[in-house]
Amino acid sequence: MCGIVGYIGPEGAAPILMDELSRLEYRGYDSAGISTIEKNKISIMKDVGRVKNLYNLDGIDDLTGTIGIAHTRWATHGKPSKENSHPHQDNSKTFSVVHNGIIENFHELRNMLEENGYNFLSQTDTEVIPNLIHYHYSKLQDNSVHGFLQAVRNCCLDLKGSFAIEVISSLFPENMIVVRKDSPLVIGTCEDEKYISSDIPAILSYTRDFYFLNDLEFALLQNNKATFFDTNLHEINKQTNNIEWTATASEKNGYEDFMLKEIYEQPTAIRETIGSKISIDSKCNFEELNFTKEYLSTIDKIYIIACGTAMHAGLAGKNVIEKLCRIPVEVDIASEFRYRSPIVNEKTLSIFISQSGETADTIAALKLAKHCGSKTIAISNVIGSSITREANYSIYTHAGPEIAVASTKAYTSQVILLNMLAVYFSEILETSDKDTIISIKKEMLDLPKKIEETFSCKDSIKEFAKKIYQEKDVFFLGRGIDETIAKEASLKLKEISYIHSESYAAGELKHGSIALIENGVTVVTVLMDKSLMEKTISNVQEVISRGAKTLVITCHPCDSNMFDEIITVPYTIQYLSPILAIIPLQLLAYYISKEKGLDVDKPRNLAKSVTVE
Ligand code: G6P
Repeated sequence: MCGIVGYIGPEGAAPILMDELSRLEYRGYDSAGISTIEKNKISIMKDVGRVKNLYNLDGIDDLTGTIGIAHTRWATHGKPSKENSHPHQDNSKTFSVVHNGIIENFHELRNMLEENGYNFLSQTDTEVIPNLIHYHYSKLQDNSVHGFLQAVRNCCLDLKGSFAIEVISSLFPENMIVVRKDSPLVIGTCEDEKYISSDIPAILSYTRDFYFLNDLEFALLQNNKATFFDTNLHEINKQTNNIEWTATASEKNGYEDFMLKEIYEQPTAIRETIGSKISIDSKCNFEELNFTKEYLSTIDKIYIIACGTAMHAGLAGKNVIEKLCRIPVEVDIASEFRYRSPIVNEKTLSIFISQSGETADTIAALKLAKHCGSKTIAISNVIGSSITREANYSIYTHAGPEIAVASTKAYTSQVILLNMLAVYFSEILETSDKDTIISIKKEMLDLPKKIEETFSCKDSIKEFAKKIYQEKDVFFLGRGIDETIAKEASLKLKEISYIHSESYAAGELKHGSIALIENGVTVVTVLMDKSLMEKTISNVQEVISRGAKTLVITCHPCDSNMFDEIITVPYTIQYLSPILAIIPLQLLAYYISKEKGLDVDKPRNLAKSVTVE
């Protein structure tokens, strides 16, 4: 959902902003714009389409200012158009603003401003912000930078909804004000330069030292100074956080697309996420949680809440936690959970999974669970992200930055972390025998090697992709844990290939969906759970009899004559099977998308981080 960046320092801002923006484009890509200050005058250049279009705009090379803000848009209010692109400025062209989020009361504010003589040129909610800042600034009798700060703060107190905002002003050409509420924003710092961004990866090549803002904290930035204020504008101290990710982690490094690179990074991501937490000889160690048997024994239900792929990882988590710990686990979609009046209390443990840590619905669901008395654990890939600051406890996947919109390495890292958590709970609660735990740990430690072996299916998958890339519908089947893998595989395919796909519990097929199976339709079946294999194969026979083309993913010996294509991945226990079985299916989605000539990393209408409801 929209990406914002900023720069203030001794260098020309425009090239830096456009570089930052191109690295952030996965957050939105229907229009882009930039604003700098030259000789105490604000310049704004913007256009529909991708960030690269900015390079062709007349006059872009004349932007020589050393302070600037920029935006890449994912349209919410108003269609993608030049007028609706950010930055937006007030009528007097004194304040220029970029914004990520949604201003829920913008109609009301717009009416008030119109009554006070302000005109609006766009359909966006954002345009109220610069005008509202101007409105407040002109009421104050303070022409100092403190007056600027006060006006931005007064404006923010009027706003309802979510926002990360950067403001520059022709009156204060050496200052920038940034603030966030329920939308992501980080401030990178090094000597006499400040870099602002919605996400860390976009500015990693400039700095690895970051300030994080809490809701409604304000930063007043100058080249060599960052001053922070609380909502009452009392100065507050902030320490920088050093991020371990390297700049090359957010580059393609020779791969054609980020998605392919990220698929191949999975062995490392799993290894890093396991870290030193799992060893055969000692108990699983989550120092960050430090749970006691006494506390865990009081828990009568675990909720796992997330969106999209992260929710699918949660389904794999339910399987292992219930089996090892004998605690009922409910998995819910964050946008549903928050409005269903869920039964949550101090006996509930709530786990929230979010790669970015910034998904609006997941954050809101977490706040709700906390309010109901539940202890909350955030699982995120981004240190310091909003969800980790809200939760009682945070644990991290160490997948490194994930840039492609379709999640791959974050998913498998989340699945391994949930397995580790299940082992951790079970060792404390003593709900599983030692041999079971040891065999799970051994399998976990063997996984990176087995993922490497799985990549050998690449050519067969590529060939299969060539056969089916023009299809309109693809179905995915599985039972038990295999159904959860089918769900994620189906999502991956529809996200990046635009082929309609559905996943079904294999046994449910006969209750309606089999009516959709006809000659030539592709059915992909996951057969990783040996105990359910025979039953699922019977269901596959039923679709074969109706003319379906079949691809099977399994780790068990299978009669290869039965299906059109079988991909055999290395054997693993069913708890961990989502990690191995999803690899060929990630590759299938990838190669179909490539075969269709689509933009794999930036599929249409989607954004990496969904920071609005
Ligand atoms: C978007 C992304 C998905 C992701 C989901 C949840 O839909 O395109 O890849 O799974 O958001 O994101 P989160 O950052 O909360 O894991």
